[in-house]
Amino acid sequence: MTITSDSVALNQWFPVAYDGQVKPGASRDTILLGEPLTLRADASGDLTVQTQTGDTLPTIRAFTLVFTTLGDNPRPMPVIQEFDEPDRRVVNCGSVGVQTSPCRIVENFLDMAHFCFVHTDILGAVDETEVLSYKTRLHEDVDEIWATDCKFFQPAASQSARDASAGQLTDYIYRITSPFSVMLYKTAMGYADRLDAICLFIQPKTETDCIAYMPMALLDDVSSTTSMIDFQQTIFLQDRIILENQRPRLLPISPRSEMPTRADLSSVAYRRWLKDKGLRFGLLLEDAA
Ligand SMILES: [Fe+2]
Repeated sequence: MTITSDSVALNQWFPVAYDGQVKPGASRDTILLGEPLTLRADASGDLTVQTQTGDTLPTIRAFTLVFTTLGDNPRPMPVIQEFDEPDRRVVNCGSVGVQTSPCRIVENFLDMAHFCFVHTDILGAVDETEVLSYKTRLHEDVDEIWATDCKFFQPAASQSARDASAGQLTDYIYRITSPFSVMLYKTAMGYADRLDAICLFIQPKTETDCIAYMPMALLDDVSSTTSMIDFQQTIFLQDRIILENQRPRLLPISPRSEMPTRADLSSVAYRRWLKDKGLRFGLLLEDAA
């Protein structure tokens, strides 16, 4: 396993731990882009991240996670203001290992068509399979892809919706905040004009072995923290089964291999955006159909 030479992948901020994962005074070994790293927590729990040659890497603490970078000029961190709103429940859902490409994980997160088949009776119902028309747009000022006007019928869109036991037409907005991170906003129970924020940040240990972190900033005064985490982990473990069975594990990038449909508009936009950036890490670059 060697560190990647892909400058696009190197110049990103990646999560390497969640808050509290490394206990004060303890250390933990991990891998980022093929580079072995050691995380050491001081007496107050603050992390230092070092390479095997002893170089100390920069860190940023944000969204319940600790981020680091192996690049000299990393893409700026996304601004996600919901995490600063005082009435939000900010929940760290831990981390989940997934044996696939980081780009497959982002693409799956964007995909509404799988809700009814993979998350049956939670995020989708077998008799409500239609993905309604939505829009995607590149926001050039922040270099993010947004998918807006997404709507999907959901039997239990969240823990609070499950407790209310009523299906609903859920509004979604997706933000691709970097090649290796994505988030969504969705209808919050009891709020007409504010949305729950759910993020997915990926630590690629290698091109096909990742750790996924899912911090959330929710509007929910009722559910216990444990039940909110359980809900999100249940969803993600259903996704992991699908993700780990996809072949090839690298995300294929080819103009001809995928037929664009309305349902995977955001996937097409994501793949084009990755290609325009010249990313190679996590991708299967092919010419043939
Ligand atoms: Fe899913």
